[in-house]
Amino acid sequence: MGTTLNCWELVVTYYLISLVAVQTIIEPPSPVNLTISWKNEFCLELSWRLPENVDENWKNCKYLISDDRLSDTRYETCVSLEGGVNFSVQTQCNGMQSQPVVHTIAAPRELVKDFHCFYYSSNALNCSWLPTNQSPEDIHLYYAYSETEINVSNTSECRSYRRNVGGKTGCLVRVDFRTLKVYFQVNGTVNGSSLRNTFKVIPKDNVKPPAPKVKITKKENNLNLSWNHPNISKSHCWNYKLNYSRCQESLNKTTKSNSETIPYDPRCQYRVQIKAVYSSNCGEGESDWSGVEIYGEEDWFSKVIAIVIPATLFLFVILFLCCFMKHKEKIFPKIPQPSMTYKDTLNSSKEPKIPSLTVEEYF
Ligand SMILES: *[C@@H]1O[C@H](CO)[C@@H](O)[C@H](O)[C@H]1NC(C)=O
Ligand SMILES: *[C@@H]1O[C@H](CO)[C@@H](O)[C@H](O)[C@H]1NC(C)=O
Ligand SMILES: *[C@@H]1O[C@H](CO)[C@@H](O)[C@H](O)[C@H]1NC(C)=O
Ligand SMILES: *[C@@H]1O[C@H](CO)[C@@H](O)[C@H](O)[C@H]1NC(C)=O
Ligand SMILES: *[C@@H]1O[C@H](CO)[C@@H](O)[C@H](O)[C@H]1NC(C)=O
Ligand SMILES: *[C@@H]1O[C@H](CO)[C@@H](O)[C@H](O)[C@H]1NC(C)=O
Ligand SMILES: *[C@@H]1O[C@H](CO)[C@@H](O)[C@H](O)[C@H]1NC(C)=O
Ligand SMILES: *[C@@H]1O[C@H](CO)[C@@H](O)[C@H](O)[C@H]1NC(C)=O
Ligand SMILES: *[C@@H]1O[C@H](CO)[C@@H](O)[C@H](O)[C@H]1NC(C)=O
Ligand SMILES: *[C@@H]1O[C@H](CO)[C@@H](O)[C@H](O)[C@H]1NC(C)=O
Ligand SMILES: *[C@@H]1O[C@H](CO)[C@@H](O)[C@H](O)[C@H]1NC(C)=O
Repeated sequence: MGTTLNCWELVVTYYLISLVAVQTIIEPPSPVNLTISWKNEFCLELSWRLPENVDENWKNCKYLISDDRLSDTRYETCVSLEGGVNFSVQTQCNGMQSQPVVHTIAAPRELVKDFHCFYYSSNALNCSWLPTNQSPEDIHLYYAYSETEINVSNTSECRSYRRNVGGKTGCLVRVDFRTLKVYFQVNGTVNGSSLRNTFKVIPKDNVKPPAPKVKITKKENNLNLSWNHPNISKSHCWNYKLNYSRCQESLNKTTKSNSETIPYDPRCQYRVQIKAVYSSNCGEGESDWSGVEIYGEEDWFSKVIAIVIPATLFLFVILFLCCFMKHKEKIFPKIPQPSMTYKDTLNSSKEPKIPSLTVEEYF
């Protein structure tokens, strides 16, 4: 038995050793000298090479980087440094991959926070940010846009900053709807050194038009609610959420059209609010809720509730008070002299309250 086991152990050990050996032999060499050179504020070129004196077998390898498979030993890309970036390059040969070589660009120190942009009309982004406690005085915003996956425009500076007492807080940036991405750089000087933050914004995923304005017209026994499509993208990209109330009843509706007909009850007041929602087939985003549009007078019933009932109640209270004052003595027997007892009552809160308080409480 013992010898058989040893024999098996030997076989297994041999097998494992040869596996490791084979693996070390066929694993391709990792790239070396991975370097980064910036082409502009947002785009960079990564380059690398194979180690010197590698076997001829490895001369026709491919390289894996960010889901791409390249024959070239260089790679161009545009990035946002927000949160930092890692690039990992692997050599791939005969179905085998080398150990990855990773280049990390750490997240820069935050000059601003909550940087975001909304696409609010067919040709402009509204960008905003909040200062951090180390935001420099000399903040500037630069941007470049790309209409294709491969190149970006020249960089421009924001032309009209929005400001408050604390400094710059936003910018309106003109871009076309064909724009795929917009890259932003916020930079400034902190403690004598120039720092920058960069961000990437995809306009179609940050749509926020002004809320549509509802027009209400009466047509026979119906109300026709109508509004304009937002001035962004095609009309088929928009859905609308309608909230409306008929008398006291709250109703809602969703539609793709830019009008809606609802039955009209002349005794009711109608209050309508709308929100435009960008279809997920086209991108992402929505408007705020519109202001309330009102049609019709408030109905008789709610007028009763709003005016008559409180008025009646008020009269009743007055009458009751008068009656009460008149017959006060009968309801509450005469109070003892207010000297000591009064003070005692005030001092000890657990004591029953004095009659005048009881009167108020009664109401
Ligand atoms: C990278 O390449 C440069 C020359 O191109 C060379 O001087 C340097 O030693 C290389 N570094 C490594 C780690 O191979
Ligand atoms: C980059 O890699 C480091 C180390 O693996 C990791 O801690 C970090 O979260 C990565 N950063 C990003 C942006 O993926
Ligand atoms: C919609 O945007 C275009 C520019 O893209 C402009 O010419 C047009 O006047 C805008 N229409 C409205 C209603 O704002
Ligand atoms: C842009 O956004 C800011 C802050 O959210 C807002 O105050 C301003 O009215 C917006 N401007 C336009 C043109 O939408
Ligand atoms: C992208 O490159 C093409 C051709 O190289 C050029 O015609 C186009 O203007 C460039 N686009 C931008 C935004 O620079
Ligand atoms: C970008 O800038 C370069 C040089 O500054 C200039 O030659 C080129 O025409 C500019 N391109 C665009 C699209 O403005
Ligand atoms: C900010 O960036 C622009 C464009 O890259 C550059 O010209 C400017 O000198 C920078 N300013 C600071 C304070 O870093
Ligand atoms: C600027 O430098 C001073 C002294 O070196 C340091 O105390 C301070 O924290 C620095 N400020 C920032 C925003 O880094
Ligand atoms: C409602 O009004 C809009 C705009 O005035 C019009 O286009 C639409 O045809 C009207 N709908 C009905 C059912 O009358
Ligand atoms: C619209 O109606 C929904 C559900 O009835 C409600 O949750 C929402 O708050 C309403 N929105 C407005 C602006 O009234
Ligand atoms: C919209 O109204 C229907 C009834 O018509 C109701 O079931 C639904 O919950 C409402 N939706 C919202 C978001 O309030």
